[in-house]
Order: sequence, then C-alpha cells, then structure tokens
Amino acid sequence: MSDNTILELQNVSLAFGGLKAVSEIDFKMQKGEILSLIGPNGAGKTSTFNLITGVYKPTEGKILYKEKVLNKYKPHQITNLGIARTFQNIRLFKQLTVLENIILAMNHTRKINFFASLLPFGPGKKELEKVTEQAVKYLEYADLVEFKDIRAENLPYGKQRELEICRAIATGADLLLLDEPAAGLNPSETTQLMDIIKRIKTELKKSIFLIEHDMKLVMGISDRIVVLDYGEKIAEGTPEEIRNNPVVIKAYLGKGE
Ligand SMILES: Nc1ncnc2c1ncn2[C@@H]1O[C@H](COP(=O)(O)OP(=O)(O)O)[C@@H](O)[C@H]1O
Ligand SMILES: [Mg+2]
Repeated sequence: MSDNTILELQNVSLAFGGLKAVSEIDFKMQKGEILSLIGPNGAGKTSTFNLITGVYKPTEGKILYKEKVLNKYKPHQITNLGIARTFQNIRLFKQLTVLENIILAMNHTRKINFFASLLPFGPGKKELEKVTEQAVKYLEYADLVEFKDIRAENLPYGKQRELEICRAIATGADLLLLDEPAAGLNPSETTQLMDIIKRIKTELKKSIFLIEHDMKLVMGISDRIVVLDYGEKIAEGTPEEIRNNPVVIKAYLGKGE
C-alpha cells in the first residue's frame, strides 16, 4: 500500500445467496481526494459502503483502511477507526435539535462533559460552552448555525441532508462515505451541497467517498471515479476519462438512465 493510500479494496466480493452484489472489486483511494462511486441502480454501490463500514462482511477479498485489514471489525470499531457515513435515506435523531444531533456525534469525552454539564453537580457552564462552541463550528460548514435550536424533523429536507454531513464531520472521522447526498435536492441545493463537500475537502482535508447519481455534481467535484455495473468494476479514472468511456456510456444508456 503506498503512503498516500487511505482505503483499499482487494478483490472484494459480497454474495447474497446466488446473487453477487459486489464482484471481485479492486481500487485504492488516496488521502484527501474525492472519489466517486457511480453506476446504475442495483450496481452494488450501497453494498460497497456496507462492506467498508462492516455492516456486511466480504465473502472474499480484503478491505484495508490505513493499512489495517477491516474484514473482522464490527461497525462501531470501524467508526472508531475514523470512518463516518451518511445514508441514502436520511437518518437523524428527529426529535433532537440540530445542535444536539451534532453533540451526540462528537467524540466521547466532549460528549460526556456536555451531558455532565447539564447536571447541577457537573463540571459546569464552561464545559457546556466549550462543547457548544465546537459543535457550532461544525454547523458552520453548512450554514446551519441559525437552525441550531430547531428540531431536526422541522428542518427543510435539504438542510437535513446537510446536517447528516455535519454530523459525519463531527465524529472526527478522516474518511467520509456519503451515499447519494444530493438525492431529492433541487438544483440550487445541489450547488450548495457541492460547495460544502469542496470545503470539507480543502479546509478540513477529509477524504470523501461519494455515491451519487447527479452527474453534474460527480463530474464537478470528483478527483477520480469508479464505475460499477452488476457488481463489477467496469471503469476507473478521472471525470474526463469516465465521461468519454464507451463502456460506461453503454452501461448507462442500456438502462435508460
Ligand atoms: N440485504 C440484501 N439482501 C439481498 N440482496 C441485496 C441486499 N442488499 C442489496 N442487495 C442486492 O444487491 C444488489 C446491489 O444493491 P445495492 O448495493 O443497494 O445497489 P446500488 O446502491 O448500486 O443501487 C441489488 O441487486 C440488490 O437487490
Ligand atoms: Mg444505493
């Protein structure tokens, strides 16, 4: 594994009964890059994220993160190693405020201090201020500060998607896996999302692995793209290379997308 590799899949497969959702996939992701995973519906994209995050175990092959083999790790252990994800269908603590959603995602010590500070005999106001201040910083990445005391369920849909991304950042993870973050967003929200993802890369130096159908977004922000079709990797390259790849064009046109 080269020094700059953060994530590597080596010959990874995942079978559900007779169906190979992911079939002998290989690729490497570099630290600090935006890598996109694209392909028609059912191509195996979400399954790939589920493999990386330990929801499913590979039926063959190896997954390496910072040179550690992840195959045997449980999802919470993988989170602790520094991989955070967002979901195709938004998952937030709907009844909690925007700020509370962020604080719950933040590192353990800070979180404990936060809840302790709510007790009359806890470490007190100062601790609370410190945690809140840090949480607000995370919210700034998505212009969410003004919404901080609103319950997550009352946020506009686009803001809920952004909150999910802020929450992933708040875990302190180095690698963010975003599963269709632009799904359901209108064009102006999508442009805003694009800016947020770019800032997370340039200012926070996170590595971002993105599943997305919006080609404008994918072509606009990806350093490299991996293309799946029927569980197999059919192409890998820069946006320019992928755009002009006849195999990729055929996979999409063949399915009317
Ligand atoms: N838990 C599961 N059990 C059985 N089949 C599954 C399961 N999860 C996904 N699949 C199948 O694996 C294939 C890939 O699915 P998925 O990774 O969700 O695709 P994508 O995210 O690219 O649309 C599909 O044929 C899907 O029906
Ligand atoms: Mg999916």
